[in-house]
Amino acid sequence: MSNAPVLARSDLEALWLPFTANRQFKSKPRILAKASGMHYWTPEGRQILDGVAGLWCVNAGHARREIAQAVASQLETLDFAPTFQMAHPGAFQLANELAKIAPGGLDHVFFTNSGSESVDTALKIALAYHRMRGEGSRTRLIGRERAYHGVGFGGISVGGIPPNRKTWSAALLPGVDHLPHTHDLAKNAFSRGAPAHGAQLADELERLVALHDASNIAAVIVEPIAGSTGVLLPPQGYLRRLREICNRHGILLIFDEVITGFGRTGSAFAAQEFGVTPDLITLAKGLTNGCVPMGAVLVGQQVYAAFMQGPDGIELFHGYTYSAHPAACAAGLATLALYQKEGLLTRAKSLAGYWEEGAHALRGLPHVIDIRNYGLILAVELESLPGKLGARGFEVFVNCFERGLLVRQTGDIIALSPPLIIERGQIDQIFSTLAQVLRGQ
Ligand SMILES: Cc1ncc(COP(=O)(O)O)c(C=O)c1O
Repeated sequence: MSNAPVLARSDLEALWLPFTANRQFKSKPRILAKASGMHYWTPEGRQILDGVAGLWCVNAGHARREIAQAVASQLETLDFAPTFQMAHPGAFQLANELAKIAPGGLDHVFFTNSGSESVDTALKIALAYHRMRGEGSRTRLIGRERAYHGVGFGGISVGGIPPNRKTWSAALLPGVDHLPHTHDLAKNAFSRGAPAHGAQLADELERLVALHDASNIAAVIVEPIAGSTGVLLPPQGYLRRLREICNRHGILLIFDEVITGFGRTGSAFAAQEFGVTPDLITLAKGLTNGCVPMGAVLVGQQVYAAFMQGPDGIELFHGYTYSAHPAACAAGLATLALYQKEGLLTRAKSLAGYWEEGAHALRGLPHVIDIRNYGLILAVELESLPGKLGARGFEVFVNCFERGLLVRQTGDIIALSPPLIIERGQIDQIFSTLAQVLRGQ
């Protein structure tokens, strides 16, 4: 049982929750008061198995003492130091440790505080890079339908989630195109791993090049596996084809690895898993195991070098007060050390087969129209109730929570991405709970 205060209805009013149906939530709140390892506990002491690593971020499991101690000790030694024309040792140490595990050549690191900031930073670096090289006409950015790149104006512009774009349509960046998404249930339903069909969807980039001319295009940004819109997997060969087209036309390729980074796919980064090296990688979430907000952009040698020329002076007019905050750096260093010590960056690979078998055993349960998986990622897609998109998914989410399992719901897609420390017995528990809930639908 936790010591968390019991909240009265009136205590809930002041807080405006993000991405939440606030009135519905406040009428029947779901509160998490304590966490450890693979579990959360509610204020009443009910144990909840964490099937989503918090929000795809707690890869090493909850409340890891090594990280807590490193942060506490850092705050007592150096609580804050500016990184504008100044720095502190932890910032360099974390950048060096990240460069060691990054895909070849992406050996420079720009720190941010979130995935959204990482995306906006990467887009700004891409635009500035072309300008630095005398190709200032390269201003167009290309995203993808059903992409989620956070909530900054850059991110929602290249992102492809209608509600994110609808409300702020007048404020979206100009000169943005979208590739088609890669989700094709007609051809790829119940795929195991990367689906077989759809590599040719990358050729849509050639169409956009033909339309605008490469001399106007700065960068393409994609999530190697799109998580937030329901786990959309890259068809076999798709990412490689995107890379080839970008190479052909001098377009920068950005992988948004905010959720695929840090072992989720079975490799440190999806770039390594799929054997495709982008020019920039955006990170956040697992970087500090979710303990302290932090993001980063990994930058390729060639891009960085383009900025380090000409007369001395500030090369990139960009940064955040809390870029490389000492507490975040301490959390990041302790997190990376745990990932290394416990083999977590590749552990998903050894569990992926067991995960896949358990997942696909759900096939045939009521309303299940697709199951797809990669590494320690899974989506179970349900048939929508007529005229009520998301209603079935929400019911499954709530019922799972009531039975002691935290899942993530996107429309009628249930996504799972547990901490990478998960044991086989806990995988069994996830699937037996989900099966019970689905049978009751
Ligand atoms: C691929 C991707 N990019 C960016 C973001 C935004 O990250 P944040 O919520 O830390 O701003 C997310 C969050 O889920 C994400 O999945």
